[in-house]
Amino acid sequence: MKKIEAIIRTEKLEDLKVAITSAGVAKGMTISQVLGFGNQKGFAEIVRGHKVTPTMLAKVKIEMVVEDATVDKVVDVIISAVQTGEVGDGKIFIQPIEDVIRIRTGERGHDAI
Ligand SMILES: Nc1ncnc2c1ncn2[C@@H]1O[C@H](COP(=O)(O)OP(=O)(O)OP(=O)(O)O)[C@@H](O)[C@H]1O
Ligand SMILES: [Mg+2]
Repeated sequence: MKKIEAIIRTEKLEDLKVAITSAGVAKGMTISQVLGFGNQKGFAEIVRGHKVTPTMLAKVKIEMVVEDATVDKVVDVIISAVQTGEVGDGKIFIQPIEDVIRIRTGERGHDAI
């Protein structure tokens, strides 16, 4: 099992929800509003060597725990739904998940995703 954590443009959230739903790849999803910066430190351009204090930009973070076999499909769906080709499109992080527990039933692991 893996957790796919995607940080995307706020305005792309609706497109992503539609794409994920129609692809039928989500067992569940968590969404948070986050602040952050990437390589451009929150600016469209940086003068080389010039020190800047990063500007925190509002983004949306999506977290989805899926089976290993589903990871590539989900990544493809996310990219197709939110990529503009401009800086600031966001990033996807993939982490191993040790266990999942459904609180209602006590089921664990794959049965609980
Ligand atoms: N290495 C990182 N660690 C944690 N969060 C990150 C990292 N890189 C990007 N983020 C988060 O993702 C958001 C979008 O990053 P962004 O798309 O600007 O990445 P980038 O590496 O600068 O790529 P690009 O050159 O396409 O802009 C950031 O505002 C931040 O919240
Ligand atoms: Mg950037």
